[in-house]
Amino acid sequence: MNEDKLKEILTCKSIDPAVRLDFPMLAVKSHGQPFAYLNNAATSLKPKPVLEAMARYYQEYGSSVFRGVDSIAYKATQAFEATRYKVKDFIGAKQAESIVFTSGATAGLNLVCHSFAAARLQPGDELVVGATEHHANYVPWQQLCKQKGARLVLAPNNERGEVTPELLESVMTDKTRLVAVCHMSNVMGAVNDLKALAAIAHRHGAYLVADGAQGIVHERPEVADWDVDFYAFSAHKIYGPTGVGVLYGKYDLLESMPPMIYGGEMIDVVDVADTTFRDPPYRFEGGTPPIAEVIGLGAALDYINSLGYCCMQQKTLQLCKRAVRGLQQNPNVEIYNPDNYFSGIVSFNVKGVHPHDAASIYDREGIQVRAGHHCAQPAMRWLRQNATLRASFAFYNNEEEADRLVTATKKAGDFLDVFF
Ligand code: ALA
Repeated sequence: MNEDKLKEILTCKSIDPAVRLDFPMLAVKSHGQPFAYLNNAATSLKPKPVLEAMARYYQEYGSSVFRGVDSIAYKATQAFEATRYKVKDFIGAKQAESIVFTSGATAGLNLVCHSFAAARLQPGDELVVGATEHHANYVPWQQLCKQKGARLVLAPNNERGEVTPELLESVMTDKTRLVAVCHMSNVMGAVNDLKALAAIAHRHGAYLVADGAQGIVHERPEVADWDVDFYAFSAHKIYGPTGVGVLYGKYDLLESMPPMIYGGEMIDVVDVADTTFRDPPYRFEGGTPPIAEVIGLGAALDYINSLGYCCMQQKTLQLCKRAVRGLQQNPNVEIYNPDNYFSGIVSFNVKGVHPHDAASIYDREGIQVRAGHHCAQPAMRWLRQNATLRASFAFYNNEEEADRLVTATKKAGDFLDVFF
């Protein structure tokens, strides 16, 4: 995070605490206590405007898109396509045709792997992945390399968990065809400088694929300016619904890719012996798409824009810092990313207490965190841990919830004293 950006975040207007009223889940009780949702990196809560936009579609114009010639179906198609433009603006793409709706970041990364990379990878080629990636941005590349007789090369991380330009450069060779890295790590909260990494990949004649699932929530991407070739994300992490995501691809690259899912609405002409396909993005969207979810994603982006991205970043950063400072007072706590506040993520363990036991203690206190390997076993190996606890904050959390995490962590440590 550069200094100017940080200054902008710290000086933008504060978020109105009344924003919590927009999130029905925050009124839920868990074990008789107000529910403290600190698992936002797994999935975010959904604000009322998103839920209402989806309900409105089902209640007022719930038709299929593209297939109808009537006015109600036309309205559904308009609302669906409007989201494509909203996404384009939100991520700084040049054209809406670069925006492919998928079922989520995983599907987007797999689409790039099978439709784009598979055709370009030869035996002996090298494919570079970040050493601490989420499985969705690791296993597809690992398996592709196995199939193709290519070499999977790990890009090292620095102690904060970042793939720095220098570290990426250190593993690039004239055989590197593709680099796959996350925008932000779901374990360490480390943010990669995608613009710098894309420049390095391109200088070596390779493509850059970014997993934006966590990053899009905390640093607004500028895909055209950063010159990334592909960027995938899921709606559900940015206050939208589950079941839908986006793959951004440079249009000429999307044009070179064959479809992966054959079916309705992705074809041009179906002859007896062969078929021609529509242009991107539609050739990648076979079958009835998740219409309500795409509309919900559009509503989520409108909601974020109305609050101000910067205000959300500020609140998340402040809460994360507060939790880290509190946890650091506890000698039983080991924090693995003590200064990646910007991500809202604290990865830690309570010494001698299995993260699943600790998570059960948090649960009894009405707090939800995530415990385990976080779908990132490579990151666990890098940390030399079997599992960790992860508390992750969003702008709708508050100081009291951060403090409850700190107090409950003390109880988890006391659990150790009782049993040993
Ligand atoms: N990738 C999600 C997480 O980190 C599920 O929890």
